[in-house]
Amino acid sequence: MRYIGNKRKLIPFIRDGLARLGIEGRTACDPFAGTAAVARFLKRQGYSVVTGDIMSFSFAFQWTYVVIDRPPRFAALRSEITTDADPLAATLDHLNAIEPRRDFISEHFSPEAVAGAQPGRRYFTPENAARIDAIRRRIWEWREAGRLNDDEHFVLIAALIEAADRVANTTGVYAAYVKSWQPNATKPLRLRPPSLVTNTGRRCQAFQLDALEVVRAQGSFDLLYLDPPYNSRQYAGYYHIPEIIAEGWFRQAPKLRGKTGLPEDGNKRSDWSRRGRCEDAFAELVAAAPCRHILMSYNSEGIISEACIESVLRERGRADTYQCLELPYKRYRSDRDHENRRYKGDRVTERLYYVRVE
Ligand SMILES: C[S@@+](CC[C@H](N)C(=O)[O-])C[C@H]1O[C@@H](n2cnc3c(N)ncnc32)[C@H](O)[C@@H]1O
Repeated sequence: MRYIGNKRKLIPFIRDGLARLGIEGRTACDPFAGTAAVARFLKRQGYSVVTGDIMSFSFAFQWTYVVIDRPPRFAALRSEITTDADPLAATLDHLNAIEPRRDFISEHFSPEAVAGAQPGRRYFTPENAARIDAIRRRIWEWREAGRLNDDEHFVLIAALIEAADRVANTTGVYAAYVKSWQPNATKPLRLRPPSLVTNTGRRCQAFQLDALEVVRAQGSFDLLYLDPPYNSRQYAGYYHIPEIIAEGWFRQAPKLRGKTGLPEDGNKRSDWSRRGRCEDAFAELVAAAPCRHILMSYNSEGIISEACIESVLRERGRADTYQCLELPYKRYRSDRDHENRRYKGDRVTERLYYVRVE
């Protein structure tokens, strides 16, 4: 998924960092998991990983890419979907073929809005919005009927969010839609099987919680990997549509406001995206973590100062082991950023900060 701070392309840097810093272990915690790209990599490396994030859609990714360890079988759908080969692919094929049906996403996030909603939010074509609606409702009906276990449920939600993101008429974040249809938006939405990491025997856990609570809830672990937000953009405002798809609207439809249809409850605002609060949040989290190694991704334009990161890590760990590895990197930028923000250039330095605690 297109996601600010997604570390998928930085996995080689992180892999090299782990090797150069001599980090080894069996248990890891990634409390800012986002798309779960790093947690998934750590699981592949042999770690049992505990993940967390405040967002619901992230929870679906964490479950899909980290917690699931056996290929889902969809046994309770056998009467409807028959397959000898790959039950996940067959279930996604089935969902890809169901009749589109207008519902919440069509009403609020496609141009054919009805009365009460602001007309003309061009996030999805009417066809794709109705596909998202129909697929999300079918997943909910199956879940309500007890026909999907957790693994089966979250893998379908993750596949739908990724498919919707591929056809979203945005430049990468949902804080704005593009006025004309982008080429990706006019393609038909299609679910694809997420690439799962299975049969490792690792027991992993996921949480939708504040990072501090995730870290405090653990016994001791080997590696704390931190990848907090870098700037004052709140993820809840930039990814409200994946969040609505993840949570559904069936028991209580969210009340939306404004040009982009933001849900009214702003309860997912994070101190890590607030200049006056992020350094205290960082110091508190690092002090609370019962781990042997701390590795933190951050970039040269982050709102936590380099001096703060260095002093907090040196104080928490063995000061002589403190290190900072650097990688010049092409900036993630959406057109909206281009309009509203001034940047020094197209490149930014990605950093990995490290300290050994014991
Ligand atoms: C830089 S992104 C992480 C990206 C992730 N490593 C990836 O590769 O996709 C930061 C994440 O922190 C989450 N976040 C923000 N405040 C948080 C908090 N207080 N507790 C837990 N997660 C938080 C955001 O929702 C976002 O997913």
